[in-house]
Amino acid sequence: MQKIVSFSKRRGFIFLSSEIYGGFSSCYDFGPLGVELKNNIKKAWWDEMIKRHEDIVGLDASILMSPKVWKASGHLTAGFADELVECKKCHHRFRKDFLKKNKCPDCGGELTRAKKFNLMMKTFVGPVEDEAAETYLRAETCQGIYVNFKNILQSMRQKLPFGIAQIGKAFRNEINPKDFIYRTREFEQMEMQWFCRPKEAPKFFNYWIKKRMNWYLNLGIKKANIRAVEVPKQELPHYAKRAVDIQYKFPFGWQEIEGIHNRGDWDLSNHSKHSGEDFKYEGYFPYVIETSVGVDRSLFAFLCDAYQEVRGGRTKTTKAVKEIEVLLKLNKSLAPIKAAVLPLVKNKSKLTKKAKEVYQMLKPYFMTQYDEVGSIGRRYRRQDEIGTVFAITVDFETLEKNDVTVRDRDTMKQKRVKIKDLVKVLKEKLNE
Ligand code: GAP
Repeated sequence: MQKIVSFSKRRGFIFLSSEIYGGFSSCYDFGPLGVELKNNIKKAWWDEMIKRHEDIVGLDASILMSPKVWKASGHLTAGFADELVECKKCHHRFRKDFLKKNKCPDCGGELTRAKKFNLMMKTFVGPVEDEAAETYLRAETCQGIYVNFKNILQSMRQKLPFGIAQIGKAFRNEINPKDFIYRTREFEQMEMQWFCRPKEAPKFFNYWIKKRMNWYLNLGIKKANIRAVEVPKQELPHYAKRAVDIQYKFPFGWQEIEGIHNRGDWDLSNHSKHSGEDFKYEGYFPYVIETSVGVDRSLFAFLCDAYQEVRGGRTKTTKAVKEIEVLLKLNKSLAPIKAAVLPLVKNKSKLTKKAKEVYQMLKPYFMTQYDEVGSIGRRYRRQDEIGTVFAITVDFETLEKNDVTVRDRDTMKQKRVKIKDLVKVLKEKLNE
């Protein structure tokens, strides 16, 4: 775990927020490579939902909504609260269900009785901080989908069954944020709400479990590290009739990365009741099957799964360096950098000039880096460490034959490709 955390910082994936001021309560910033990885995950999810399903449409609802939304959804009541205990001695606070013993884990002190703590993040809209101006940052993105159900049904002329997908930030005032980016107070969700006839809900529930599991497997998550687990009845969220968690085997154990929920007619019927808007379809409230995944949590899982350390180095052709080399074996579509252009040696002005030309040629098509610092072996290792798919070397032959070597990250095999064919060849290889 510590290795992933320091790797993420060292190589520009994830930084602690407000680090120069000592950090800020479990908030994180995604660096230049982190934001690429994050965008690639979001694109893979959006393509899966919107491009591969003709019956799913997109939405981008606002983060701030009327507080009436949260009253209707049940988030302001005990259903969306964790049990909090406080140490009578050091006054540290904990989520009760996270504690192994009935004692303060920090000082061993006695704990207070548990009280319910609501997770909604309160804020004020406008200049006056009174009750009338109070609202909340959304705790789940899907409420924006439910309140727009009729707008979308009518404007897009949808018929049941159909889905609405959305990606966006959500906020929860977690008592104990922990495990790096696993549990934070600000995070991003990718949620799809599938509206269907009540009697078809069990069928679609199973369909979406299978679909979502395959999404992770197709993006390279190892089969042994992912599983779908039924949520026991007594642990179901307040809105769910049934839930299955997709869990990943993190360094700190099996943990949820996505929830599949049968929400029944909880949301549409409650919003109908509270708003007066009729959300019935052909005389009944549609049921909702929801797939809800955290962008940050899935990114964390993809990082853990791809991270490999190779003792003594990967190259067998050169003398083993006897040090640990890191290989980030991310799926090609998720890798932040697709190609790195490297002149074989620096200070040979013709080589660097040509390499810069190749870099400029590739840059509009792929996320590309140019690197001329250090030995070629060291530069390959630097790129392997961040998961760059192809390393393109400009050597002395390039100057005569107008071709380059293309090195594959995983096999380390090199192939010569004409510069004029390079964009086409890389596009084909990335889509293989
Ligand atoms: N709309 C349903 C819903 O929000 P959830 O199981 O509470 O369901 C869904 O959350 C997903 O959102 C989780 O599986 C997780 O990936 C992500 N998530 C929830 N709380 C989080 C937190 N505090 N930090 C990071 N991700 C979180």
